[in-house]
Amino acid sequence: MQPAGREHWKSSLGFVLAAAGSAVGLGNIWRFPTLTGQNGGGGFVLLYVSIVLLVGLPLMYVELSMGRAAQLGPVGAFRTLAPHRAWRALGYLFVLTGIVILSYYGVVAGWTLKYFWMAVVDGFTKEASGPAFGAFTKNGTLQIAFLAAFLGLTTGIVFFGVKGGIERMSTVLMPVLFVLLLLLIVYALTLPTALDGLCFYLIPDPASISGKTFVFAAGQAFFSLSLGMGAMLTYGSYLSPGSNLMRSGLVVVLCDTAVAIMAGLLIFPVLGGAPDKSGPGLVFVVLTDLFATLPAGRFVGALFFLLLAIAALTSTISLMEVAASYWIDERGWSRKKAVGVTAGLVLLLGVPSALSLGAVGGLGNVLSIGGKALGFLDLMDFFFGNVSLTLGGFLLVLFALLAWKRARFEAELYAGSGTPAVVRKGLFFLLAVLAPLCLGGILGYMLITGQTLG
Ligand code: PHE
Repeated sequence: MQPAGREHWKSSLGFVLAAAGSAVGLGNIWRFPTLTGQNGGGGFVLLYVSIVLLVGLPLMYVELSMGRAAQLGPVGAFRTLAPHRAWRALGYLFVLTGIVILSYYGVVAGWTLKYFWMAVVDGFTKEASGPAFGAFTKNGTLQIAFLAAFLGLTTGIVFFGVKGGIERMSTVLMPVLFVLLLLLIVYALTLPTALDGLCFYLIPDPASISGKTFVFAAGQAFFSLSLGMGAMLTYGSYLSPGSNLMRSGLVVVLCDTAVAIMAGLLIFPVLGGAPDKSGPGLVFVVLTDLFATLPAGRFVGALFFLLLAIAALTSTISLMEVAASYWIDERGWSRKKAVGVTAGLVLLLGVPSALSLGAVGGLGNVLSIGGKALGFLDLMDFFFGNVSLTLGGFLLVLFALLAWKRARFEAELYAGSGTPAVVRKGLFFLLAVLAPLCLGGILGYMLITGQTLG
């Protein structure tokens, strides 16, 4: 059922900032530089940007048009846009995916609070190095406490709704994030290590590009753009009919890409080349160690972790909104109840992830995929942060063209935008040919090799 007075964004700038806030997150500032470092630098960056523009942008258009047309979250959108029941199951998968991603993303987001606190209160000394990071992740109580704190912040914002909570916070936080990032880049470029770092980051080395690089770059593109699980669809459902989707979608994608590229311009000059550690270690160990020795490092470090916390927060609110909108749209719940139940579920599901980083040994090694031992958190990221998003993206494209039908999808997308015919044709080619090939190929590769994209 469509609620009578659906909330809408106050302004199109507000929508763009909220959607860019969803896209810009730990994925840009933490995961992107890590993957770039592991996959040979410049070549990876080039592939990533190509996939973002050729597959990510068209998929963004699919999600935004579906949301705006239906004026409902994913489950309702599949229900109303095409009659076949089977599609509704995909809507449920999207809601579940949002809840699960939030449950482990929230664990890492919680760390940003702890490290910000550490910078402000104690400064970075030896405690910030590897063993201390290990001790922190092993401390189950602290892991759950920081997850709960971050979920508390998220819930507090989502509770105030689309305009009063999400849009208001995003319009304040996104410009702050941008300014902080610029300041930090200026600082990083003055370091003696800057030039070596930039060379590694920006000069593509053809030898480093392989099928695997391609798969990693694509997985990162969807994760970073918040695609394949209905987050952008849900934000699109709060748009009023008059808005220009072609322009807003493009701006969101460009913002997300710009922030990822900028994060690299900050991190590689500080590192001076390829990182020797991957994953959590890159930001929380290597950078913290550097902050301990750099001039004004404590101040810069505090700003850096504040930046990371803000980026994560505008993403976690979008993850929570997908589930909240389901209870509100489909079950008629009040926002308060919807947000409360979602937060409770996420926290419950987050506990095993929070405890899988050393607190409870068994949770650290649940399953072995492709010869790699995966803990509970890694496992959730593999199935929900990678497989589910890619599958979701693949099926969304099929849905738009075959079930909802091309004519209706295009009418919605191009309403009020005056897009020239060649652009329309090009976009159709990307969606009908390139996207299914690319997404289908990746899906097959992931399932066969068990590659975790993160
Ligand atoms: N795009 C976010 C990031 O880069 C993560 C995210 C994925 C948010 C899916 C919402 C939905 O950190």
